Amino acid sequence: MPRRRVTTDIPSLGVIDRAAAQVGRQIAHALRTAIAKGELKPGELLPSTRTLSTSLRVARGTVTEAFEQLQAEGYLDSRVGAGTRVAPMLAEQPRPARSSRSRKAETMPIDLPPRATKLAEVVGAFTPMPEVPFAIAVPAGAVAPDDHWRRLGNRVRASRAAAPASYGDPRGLMELRRAIADYVRKSRAVLCEPEQVVITAGTQQGLYLAGRVLLSRGDRVWAEDPAYPGMTAVLDDLDLVTTRVPVDEQGIDVDAGIAICADARAAFATPSHQYPLGMPISMIRRKALLAWAARQGAWIVEDDYDSELRYAGHPFPSMQGLDPQRVVYLGTLSKVLFPSLRLGYVVAPAPLIDAFAGARALLDRHSPTADQHVLAAYMQEGLFEAHIRRIRGVYAARRATLIAALTRHMPDGVTLQPSDQGMHLLLWLPDGADDVRLAQASLDAGIVVRAISPMYHQAPRAGLMLGFGGFAPQELEAAVLRLRHVMDTNGMQQAPRRKSRRAS
Ligand SMILES: Cc1ncc(COP(=O)(O)O)c(C=O)c1O
Repeated sequence: MPRRRVTTDIPSLGVIDRAAAQVGRQIAHALRTAIAKGELKPGELLPSTRTLSTSLRVARGTVTEAFEQLQAEGYLDSRVGAGTRVAPMLAEQPRPARSSRSRKAETMPIDLPPRATKLAEVVGAFTPMPEVPFAIAVPAGAVAPDDHWRRLGNRVRASRAAAPASYGDPRGLMELRRAIADYVRKSRAVLCEPEQVVITAGTQQGLYLAGRVLLSRGDRVWAEDPAYPGMTAVLDDLDLVTTRVPVDEQGIDVDAGIAICADARAAFATPSHQYPLGMPISMIRRKALLAWAARQGAWIVEDDYDSELRYAGHPFPSMQGLDPQRVVYLGTLSKVLFPSLRLGYVVAPAPLIDAFAGARALLDRHSPTADQHVLAAYMQEGLFEAHIRRIRGVYAARRATLIAALTRHMPDGVTLQPSDQGMHLLLWLPDGADDVRLAQASLDAGIVVRAISPMYHQAPRAGLMLGFGGFAPQELEAAVLRLRHVMDTNGMQQAPRRKSRRAS
């Protein structure tokens, strides 16, 4: 049994200033400090209130008041006849750092939990790149939403509809769900009612929600190879077992997928515009994918991130329209409006909607209501479709400029991947070239290109993604010359095998 402490064993009590105010609080504070420093250990008996009041030369009631406060806070245990002890439970808690607020303490190394380590590795892929050519998704200048967006936004925000309000529906604002359902029915041949739409914070969240709602830890899933790193990172984070299925000129190779892993529970794909290669999934493959999914009772998650921007003919119809019961469709406003808006949508079979809304509510309840009102009005007034028509023309011109400049200035062995949509082009480098090294050298030279090889799981090919969306023709032309210079000065050395990934 521990002996009872005497006052002189507790140096922290030495700071009590009887002449100053609130002596009871001072005593409580000194005892907390003594416990934190280990001068008083869990389970140890404190001096009696009588002893303390005598040695500190304060009224006994003042000491009693301090003890009662510390009992209420859980620091002390007091039992009639047994005296007052430091609460034994404090032994189970980590001792507070000496000064938890000091900078030194904040930077002290700690053992990260395994999931924290994995998540910390992800953030680099989402750290924005400088907004210089050929960064992807910078809707600046002529392709930024014009004055209509600003004026309408001001008007809607000043109205009662967008005034500060309580929580909203996790499914999203009904006006916006209606506007989106109208839009995707017409422009993407998606078969849906407004009730099947859940508003998200963009497709990144849509991917996460789809994984959460449709799959359980350890389930097998297909992902394209190569694929969008922000998607494969989601599958990893959800502890799913991912099979990477190769992509050829017709899109995902369904037979190969069946040969490797026939019993997957879902396939995550970019059917209209393979990311990053650019081809759509052919009709034969679409049918094969849907037939496999129907046989297996599997889901198809369709990431339709930028198919509004097709330059030859009309956008491809969605896969969802071919089998609305089996396909979960994900759309985003990031490409056609701007990424910082953080608005997108899921279209799912009606019986899944509450589950999507529940998963959404657990993450962040819902998207900001005022922003949803602004977007709903923008769509209802026809401004959204007019905006898409306008930017498609601007992007087409920029794209043509970039293709012409690349054709003129790229060295032998560098080829352009055929594609007719989106906001980026893909350059193939000669076999074995080090695209990651070239991307780093480009950044040092003030341009941004994205290396393709890290997006592959097997048989990586070296290539560079070049975004053209946010840059005027003359900027693109100048940047092509700079890229050529980087290629000339860095050569196309062999690449070591490595994994580093960027998203967006
Ligand atoms: C293929 C693909 N899917 C999803 C996303 C995520 O988009 P969002 O901004 O809507 O989260 C991106 C972003 O670039 C993308 O390229």
